[in-house]
Amino acid sequence: MNIILLGAPGAGKGTQARMLEEEFGLIQLSTGDMLRASIKNHEPLGLAAKALIDRGELVPDAMMVRLIETRISQPDCAKGFILDGFPRTVPQAEALDEMLAEKNMKLDAVIELKVDEEKLVERVAGRFTCAKCGEGYHDTFKTPQTSGVCDSCGSTEFSRRADDNAETMKTRLQAYRDQTAPILPYYQAKGMLKGVDGMDEMMSVYDSLVQLLGIKR
Ligand code: AP5
Ligand code: MG
Repeated sequence: MNIILLGAPGAGKGTQARMLEEEFGLIQLSTGDMLRASIKNHEPLGLAAKALIDRGELVPDAMMVRLIETRISQPDCAKGFILDGFPRTVPQAEALDEMLAEKNMKLDAVIELKVDEEKLVERVAGRFTCAKCGEGYHDTFKTPQTSGVCDSCGSTEFSRRADDNAETMKTRLQAYRDQTAPILPYYQAKGMLKGVDGMDEMMSVYDSLVQLLGIKR
């Protein structure tokens, strides 16, 4: 099963994608995570993207399309994938359609996680991540079972994203409204768009998502 998770910054795309990956073996393809890894490894893509990400602006379409095309062609993606953070513009959605058609692949569902804006700001402001395995946490909504120790891998190192601040969040939300929201009617017109209430607590959102996708547990 190949799906797209859509939603504003902080809507819960990464949280839900990781849970789907763990339970069903679908591969999470987070373009944001790929870009952050590229920055960490001092790769040319990361160097080109860093200033844009820090300002909350989108990285150019051509770079993102190339990144996803390379990743989607790898054998593990044949098990099924979850696109998290891609496509983010109409040209990216069109390029995705083309590349999937060329590879004889198809999308099974496009799901929008719907969350009010004031909630989004609260979510990104409290977010932190295990520096070793990438497990996501929140100061209020999801703290590690043992304070300071990652539930998943036992690491004691955590990181916070440079773009998770109030000022950058304004630009990220504006980019979502102006450049990403127009892909909702694009998928609606194809009869593929479904919505999930993302305001509930994480497990309830996940249960709704699994039910909507119709995957057997
Ligand atoms: P990216 O990394 O994709 O960031 P984003 O879209 O801004 O989304 P987030 O990762 O902030 O939110 P999320 O929906 O994953 O929320 P999460 O599950 O972590 O992109 C970063 C940047 O890279 C972009 O700004 C852009 O510059 C660039 N970029 C990436 N892809 C691109 C593309 N295709 N084209 C161009 N540029 C691109 O949840 C957030 C927090 O809330 C967590 O702490 C979590 O624990 C908590 N939480 C989650 N769900 C719930 C819940 N139900 N209840 C309570 N708390 C919850
Ligand atoms: Mg994310």
